[in-house]
Amino acid sequence: MGPFYGQITGWGMYVPERIITNQELVKRLDSSHEWIVQRTGIHQRHAAAPHETTSTMATQAACRALVKANLNPADLDLIVLGTSTPDHFVAPAPSSQVQHALGATNVPAFTVTTGCTGFVYALTVAHQFIQSGAYRNVLVIGAELLTRLINWQDRATAVLFGDGAGAVVVQATDRPCGLESFVLGSNGALGEHLSFPAGGIKEPLTPASLAEGRQYLQMNGREVFRFASKVMVESCRQVLAQAKVGLAEVDWVIPHQANERIIRAAAREMDIPLDQFIINIDRYANTSAASIPMALCEGLDSGRVQPHHKLLFASFGSGLTWATCLWQM
Ligand code: UT7
Repeated sequence: MGPFYGQITGWGMYVPERIITNQELVKRLDSSHEWIVQRTGIHQRHAAAPHETTSTMATQAACRALVKANLNPADLDLIVLGTSTPDHFVAPAPSSQVQHALGATNVPAFTVTTGCTGFVYALTVAHQFIQSGAYRNVLVIGAELLTRLINWQDRATAVLFGDGAGAVVVQATDRPCGLESFVLGSNGALGEHLSFPAGGIKEPLTPASLAEGRQYLQMNGREVFRFASKVMVESCRQVLAQAKVGLAEVDWVIPHQANERIIRAAAREMDIPLDQFIINIDRYANTSAASIPMALCEGLDSGRVQPHHKLLFASFGSGLTWATCLWQM
């Protein structure tokens, strides 16, 4: 039996209905549409309604991916959810909530909490189960609801994030495809540059910490920018060298959508035309673990991404972590 490869047979995305434009945002913030567009490429973001959570968005995206794959939830062997914004602190895990909401009775499910790299980490992990022959049908999701965890008075972070979810169904096949190489990494020494200081075990929420806003995202944007620009290029080169694949053979780069300037800098440095990158940060802002599967969905739905295409998924995020892989459709 084997070898086994992982083929993406279904994909789907979900974004909340509500759109917050830059124009609306800057009414209550010392910023401008021009600044936001020039420094980030963002024009608008989607924000979850009060009744929505990370797991409800993940479930919507997952349902669409399952329909596309023509697969019943009960046929799944595994669900892996990449998110750092779970519905509940500690328990129950959002992956189990998605499993239940899908009606995927007793299907194993777990959550990968590596921040914006969550989807690529999850995809890499999921692929190992397929390659080993252990599982045949795996659902991989990236979902994030950050708009409830940012300080809307802090212009340095408020303009950057949006909510959304993207999902893929990966199925075992004997056609060579799927994960060709990957680089995962973590440098916890840089962790403080992107953190939620309070609300965890180390600093439980108190009236004082809430009043100080320590439950919200705090980010050293310049440090993260520097880290991201470097690690994106390095990890792409490593992944290509590992797979012995030249840049010219790559059809699409699907990068984490954190800042269009980071993407442009990487394109310049690697000498890849920008139109070979799938970019949707203008409409969704940074959706963290959801950004890559959402961009992949749009690439597939628009017909840009085709069967047999080689894709570079490149991500970086809190931790700080990075996760980049070469994937053949
Ligand atoms: O998913 C991974 C997580 N995040 C990231 O990847 C983010 C990485 N970093 C970034 O994208 C960028 O660093 C930012 C977009 C966050 C900031 O852009 P920047 O070009 O690095 O700006 P800066 O932090 O160097 O700030 C430049 C100026 C500052 O003013 P002074 O000190 O020069 O007077 C800021 O106070 O821009 C000011 N500024 C703003 N002005 C208007 C910061 N945010 C805003 C704002 N509107 N929203």
